[in-house]
Amino acid sequence: MYYCDTHGHLDLHQFDADRAAVIERAAAAGVRIIIVPAIDLGSCRRVLALADQHPNVYAAVGVHPNDCADFDDGTVGALRRLAQHPKVVAIGEIGLDYYWRKVPPGRQKQVLTAQLALAAELGLPAILHSRNAAPEDRACTTDLLSEIAQLGPMIRKQRPTGAIIGVWHAFSGDLTEAWRAYDLGLALGLGGPVTFQNARRLRALAPSLRRDRLLLETDAPYLAPHPHRGQRNEPAYVPLIAQALAGLYHMPVEEITVQTSTTALSCFGITREGANLGEVR
Ligand code: NI
Repeated sequence: MYYCDTHGHLDLHQFDADRAAVIERAAAAGVRIIIVPAIDLGSCRRVLALADQHPNVYAAVGVHPNDCADFDDGTVGALRRLAQHPKVVAIGEIGLDYYWRKVPPGRQKQVLTAQLALAAELGLPAILHSRNAAPEDRACTTDLLSEIAQLGPMIRKQRPTGAIIGVWHAFSGDLTEAWRAYDLGLALGLGGPVTFQNARRLRALAPSLRRDRLLLETDAPYLAPHPHRGQRNEPAYVPLIAQALAGLYHMPVEEITVQTSTTALSCFGITREGANLGEVR
């Protein structure tokens, strides 16, 4: 049995002092695959260097909605070149963020469209971010889903039949939004918040979510699970997330772990041999 952290920002400065130790601790905790999504071009290069150094680290290249003010055709060209690296398994982290609004929403949408088109061109899944302005305001999610409805079919055409076309990371929507996402071919990523006793809405919703479209993620260094809440998060904490979900689903943690890891491998096109998982039970 092994875990996958499908979303950990190990290139960020919070890990500068002990990055190698963090990756070692993850391996010791059974986290055999870590996908590190980039947030801008500089981040892409750092993430690829990490993937070169560490066999269990995989990369996603993309520009985050909060960092996309300077995005242009040249950025698309650079991402296209960076995506040729053999350990790039997705385009991400891309999406929309109406909470911080560091970039006007119309501009964010243009950038998202361009990056989804690149995902389609390259046959790669997308790692998606959506943050609404307020819990009761779903505009950001509505816009994200309509972008996926338009460009998702292009990605789907380039992917193996039935393949997941992307993951909606740090899912915080409702059941209607979850099913809309499933219909569009997305998986949902869940992390630290499922361990928060006061995350009542999410914890009540989780057991209704499709287990075959579920991915585990830390979003490290953010959103550390209980009992590390408020501290720096790291991939070694994925087992705490699996345990919390096992409790919510009333099923053995092994089952959740095996199923979510299998989904992660197929979503990101990672083979057991490629990831050197052959000898793992
Ligand atoms: Ni992220």
